Amino acid sequence: MLLGFLTLFSLALAQTGPQLYQQNCAFCHGENGQGRVGAFPPLAGHTTELIKTPEGRAHLINTLLFGMQGPVRVKGNTYNGVMPAFGQLTDEQIATVLNYILNAWGNDKLLPRDHRPITPAEVANARSVSGSRPTPQQVGNNRARINVP
Ligand code: HEC
Repeated sequence: MLLGFLTLFSLALAQTGPQLYQQNCAFCHGENGQGRVGAFPPLAGHTTELIKTPEGRAHLINTLLFGMQGPVRVKGNTYNGVMPAFGQLTDEQIATVLNYILNAWGNDKLLPRDHRPITPAEVANARSVSGSRPTPQQVGNNRARINVP
């Protein structure tokens, strides 16, 4: 009975992708992942391009864990802002929100056929690179080497 209650309670607390996105990301990247030209890069039609590159998966995870800073070009526009780190979110929450932005707004139709969802274990793994945690600037520098439209 107590166990049942605790299970229900934790289910109620577990946040869904849309909830996590609304609370943590929509303010900058927009309700529909459209971003704002020159200020916040779009996520709609863009994260699907990143995930197709060999480094894209790690970049998405690192951006959420460690933040990102430095000039980047997305769909013909330059962005040079600061993305705050979201390392305070759990591995589960980071995986959930990343899978949400990879599938929302029609992105699901743009994913590569062999796409596998990002797992909490992958996030935990990236988080535990002890001693060599990238700074937001390093995440930005690595991003500058990834070519996407
Ligand atoms: C305070 C504003 C802000 C918030 C809140 C924010 N971002 Fe960002 N995000 C940015 C900026 C600015 C950049 C680009 C950083 C740069 O210019 O180097 C960015 C970059 C990104 C990128 C990488 C894009 C690329 O092309 O490399 C992803 C993915 C991303 N954000 C997802 C998210 C998610 C998911 C959340 C919520 C958990 C979130 N962001 C919350 C401002 C924000």
